[in-house]
Amino acid sequence: MIRENNKLFALDTPTTSYLFQVNETGHLEHLHYGRKFQLQAGDLNALEDKHRHTIGDEPAYDEDHPTLFLENLPMEYSTEGKGDYRVPMVVVDHDGGFTTLDFIYQNHLITAGKQTIPHQGAQAYGSVQNCMSLRVELRDSQLPIFLVLSYTVFEDSDVILRFSQLINKTDHHIYIRKLDSLQLDLSDANWDLVTFNGAWARERIMERAHLRHGSHVNESRSGLSSSDHNPLLLLARPDATEKQGEVIGYNLIYSGNHKEEVEVSPFGKTRLVGGINESAFLWKLPSGSTFTSPEAILTYSTEGFEGVSTRFHRFVNEHIVRGVWKWRERPVLCNSWEAAYFDFDENKLLNLARSAAALGAELFVVDDGWFGSRNDDTSSLGDWFPSPQKIPSGLSALSDKIHNLGMMFGLWIEPEMVNKESQLYLKHPDWVIAIPGRKPSVGRHQYILDLTRKEVRDYLYDAIGKVFSEADVNYVKWDCNRLFTDLYTVNDEVRNMGEFPHRYVLGLYELLDRFTKAFPNVLFEGCASGGQRFDLGMLCYVQQIWCSDNTDALDRIAIQEGTSYGYPLSAIGCHVSTAPNHQTLRMTSLETRANIAFFGAFGYEMDLGALSREEKQQVREQIAFFKQFRAVFQYGTFHRNRHGNITQWTVVSQDKRTLLVLWNQERMTVNGPNDILLVPEAEDGALYEVLSRPQELELASLGARVARKVAPLTNLSKNPNATVSASMEHYLVSGGLLKYAGIKLPEQFLGCGFDADSRILGDMGGRIYLIRKQ
Ligand code: DGJ
Repeated sequence: MIRENNKLFALDTPTTSYLFQVNETGHLEHLHYGRKFQLQAGDLNALEDKHRHTIGDEPAYDEDHPTLFLENLPMEYSTEGKGDYRVPMVVVDHDGGFTTLDFIYQNHLITAGKQTIPHQGAQAYGSVQNCMSLRVELRDSQLPIFLVLSYTVFEDSDVILRFSQLINKTDHHIYIRKLDSLQLDLSDANWDLVTFNGAWARERIMERAHLRHGSHVNESRSGLSSSDHNPLLLLARPDATEKQGEVIGYNLIYSGNHKEEVEVSPFGKTRLVGGINESAFLWKLPSGSTFTSPEAILTYSTEGFEGVSTRFHRFVNEHIVRGVWKWRERPVLCNSWEAAYFDFDENKLLNLARSAAALGAELFVVDDGWFGSRNDDTSSLGDWFPSPQKIPSGLSALSDKIHNLGMMFGLWIEPEMVNKESQLYLKHPDWVIAIPGRKPSVGRHQYILDLTRKEVRDYLYDAIGKVFSEADVNYVKWDCNRLFTDLYTVNDEVRNMGEFPHRYVLGLYELLDRFTKAFPNVLFEGCASGGQRFDLGMLCYVQQIWCSDNTDALDRIAIQEGTSYGYPLSAIGCHVSTAPNHQTLRMTSLETRANIAFFGAFGYEMDLGALSREEKQQVREQIAFFKQFRAVFQYGTFHRNRHGNITQWTVVSQDKRTLLVLWNQERMTVNGPNDILLVPEAEDGALYEVLSRPQELELASLGARVARKVAPLTNLSKNPNATVSASMEHYLVSGGLLKYAGIKLPEQFLGCGFDADSRILGDMGGRIYLIRKQ
């Protein structure tokens, strides 16, 4: 709901209020973002910032307002040159380096639904039933340069979306140095900044630090939203926990260079601005034209981090992900990458696919290596036709065979890239991004195609679209394996090189849009060397994203958990891979690897054909179990209950009758305290049955001595792959007990003493508990 009364704007979601007003000078003064309350007469006066005194050497707005200091006014936007020295939201060079602007309220419009801006790429969507929008137009006090601030309120997810536009109605061009999507000014600085940082194969690790005076920056300059700093950002009260306390969530619907800056002013106010990174950005805005920022979203919760992530999950599933895969369970996949890398032919693929089908997989994905003469990463990107050596009968024959096995057929592509060793490069060396006269940098032996150019996009669409149609492709993994350098284009639609990074992103979105519209039934998975482009921009086109090239179960706990703060589990690609793990060389049991990977878009990325009979049986049962509860894993509400060494993840079904709890210890603690299964999500007064998921113990991994104790009749040297069933747990307990006291779990095996109920876990050992309301 959005209301306006006497230039006071109230944007309400079911639990939050966002309030601002047009003040006496025509600026938009921010009044409140937080918990919803009923406004009473008199509240406005109390909410306004007081400015009755002069402040030392601070410049006042003008002679008529000698005590109004923009530096200390909470605002909906900010510019340079009028005494607000905090980080600005808008910087426009409108006359040879002259940047002073002063935007004053002109008019506003409240409408049902959400505005869509043509040619703007990734945008959220909503209907007149579930959202409402406000557009406020401001004009510079002197020049016909307009700033438009747009707001959309999403009732069903407690989210407020914002974007901004600059309109140049002068008779000459101007340059936008910076136009953020939003600005949020908060009255105090008692916040922790929470960001999701990392690197390749170590993406989105949560970090939390208390704000101090000055600026804190969260940004990417590599051309991708990046694994270094995801655009997702939270501001949390220092006492906020997973389940309690005030937390504000922010995310940007954008896949390129982004920048969020949180600044605590000398007066102890906090400003958040976020949008396209101004680094390498300079947009020439001709007379009569408009520039639109990407969209950004905000949410707020008093129920801690969980409140924010639940709202974001709902929003992403309802207003970002679109098409036939919206709210739809994702197929269990088998991907060829870690099973074979580049080393395969049709027979090998078919053998892998047969093994996968026999174990219950639903989608077979041929990853990198199927096209041109690609046998390693030095060649063939750009040549989008099947390798005659590896797939002599062609892709459509292969696809038919996969379909005949009862599986969907999926294909890996990396459209944005080209190797020098390729037919495409021979024909179109000028399609590569490079600066004339300079040698371009190279990453993974590949160069980036200039997606700002229509002929490049057309080639990719035609060449790859032909493959999709001919081979009846049902799933596509869209990869991107290098960062940007040498920003330059010969495209004369790009008026200056500072437009290039953003125009590239718009070109990418246009191409994604064409593919997703032309192949509406295809399930698209984003990927960029794993999770370099895990963002809401991509999720407007692809329905899930490969979370990380690191498939190690222990590392995945932090990576998936970090990702879950902003993104729903249905969008997080999680695969079981082999042990020792290819990235970390760590050994973890097959059951643990599956337990962690269940919490997402689940699949296998290992040579399933090479598994022992016992391992195959484990995989078969894992897949059957996952399919039974897939809707809960992917679309249930997700809860993080970490305590020390123990990761506890819970998903709760929509009807709240089924809970699945992962209890996993990272490190075995000898003679530690009793393990207790406490499930805060249970309902007091209800009765629950609690069952551990049947799991197998790989005897060899226990060592001969313990294996003899556990399975005295098994001869390990004769059967090195032998397993025994892990102890089962079964309880019938009250919800109150689960919620407030917890189940004291049987002891872990510690080297002495053993019986059928002992839990043998070791490092990275755990269980999934299936909890059902009776
Ligand atoms: C990077 C991806 O993250 C991997 O999963 C795999 O698809 C490789 N690229 C293939 O080159």
